[in-house]
Amino acid sequence: MGILESMSTNEDRNVSMRVAINDEYGDPSVLRLSEAPRPTAGPREVLVQVLASDVTQGDRRLRAADFPGFTALFGRLMFGVFSPRNQVGGTNFAGRVVAVGSKVTSYAVGDDVYGAVMRGAYAEYLAVSENSALAKMPTNTTYAEAAALPYGAVTALVFLRDLAKVQPGQRVLVVGASGGVGRMAVQLAKHLGAHVTGVASRDEDLVRSLGASEFINHKSEDFTQSSQTWDVIFDTTEGNHFQSFCGSLTPTGRYLTLYMTVRVLFEQATTAMRRGPRAIVGVAMGSAENLRDICELVSEGALRPVIGERYSLDEIARAHAALEGSRPRGSVVIDMADGQNLLPALDLLPATPSYA
Ligand SMILES: NC(=O)c1ccc[n+]([C@@H]2O[C@H](COP(=O)([O-])OP(=O)(O)OC[C@H]3O[C@@H](n4cnc5c(N)ncnc54)[C@H](OP(=O)(O)O)[C@@H]3O)[C@@H](O)[C@H]2O)c1
Repeated sequence: MGILESMSTNEDRNVSMRVAINDEYGDPSVLRLSEAPRPTAGPREVLVQVLASDVTQGDRRLRAADFPGFTALFGRLMFGVFSPRNQVGGTNFAGRVVAVGSKVTSYAVGDDVYGAVMRGAYAEYLAVSENSALAKMPTNTTYAEAAALPYGAVTALVFLRDLAKVQPGQRVLVVGASGGVGRMAVQLAKHLGAHVTGVASRDEDLVRSLGASEFINHKSEDFTQSSQTWDVIFDTTEGNHFQSFCGSLTPTGRYLTLYMTVRVLFEQATTAMRRGPRAIVGVAMGSAENLRDICELVSEGALRPVIGERYSLDEIARAHAALEGSRPRGSVVIDMADGQNLLPALDLLPATPSYA
């Protein structure tokens, strides 16, 4: 399917917008700037002028069709077997509502919003359902900061609050504490009242400033060889499984992993059937409810995004390349709000669009 067909909500094909597409899977060089028809909002949709988008390890995987383990087959079936079904990349965004459908009740033109989509956020405009993973943006963040929230914060919320049910006083170990998910996990665990240990090889000062009381450098220390144990080990890195870390769990401890391998699924099933530490694996999906919770946490100062590098939309390939080399100290964002006067952009569109 071509780009015109994939942006199917468009009514006026004469109005175009800039998008970053990858029409094949591969390294960052497959990304390029293109033009597509600007979408319009359906009756229950809002049209968002995207002012920032996050570039994450999740986006890298979708660009490269690098789906871990047995999810490779499902990933290709879901996102396109030989090439991406939706050529416009980008999964997290923040921006301003510039038009609303006739049946929309929760949003109005001018609202600042942020959210997550399966694909399509590397675009100047995005039409999304008002009931999708969308929420009003925190008032104390920039667009770039808000766009950097959903990826790590939703994952941390789902795994630590909902699946592990972290309690005050528990000991939580975050493996990959300086990464996109880890930075949010450290903050959330701290907010939930846990004693937090972060594992990474760089950015100790950053990890501590986010709430870790202890830091373990995985290049010089193997925490599995120490006598310390944790109630929750949140593993954001690849290649491990429950057996790797179960000796470092308390008798009722939880091993959480982001990597869905056959082995970990087996461990999850078997540990659920007996007493003792358990393995938990899953996929974190954004929802309006999660995003509203995150907005509250950011507003009260419990969570903060860390921006590492900013790029413009036409630098999309460079932005993706930044994730492949030495990882930046913070999120990589496509910042489209920079130097942009929002009012003329709003004037581009009718305040009350007419829909058939
Ligand atoms: N299942 C889900 O729902 C879900 C959701 C979100 C993300 N994910 C996946 O989670 C993964 C992590 O994403 P991310 O954005 O956090 O990655 P990232 O930003 O690249 O961070 C990787 C982290 O791992 C650390 N690390 C690297 N090697 C390590 C080792 N041997 N031992 C301990 N720590 C090590 C890095 O620290 P140093 O560089 O300092 O060593 C860094 O803190 C991605 O592959 C993504 O696809 C899954």
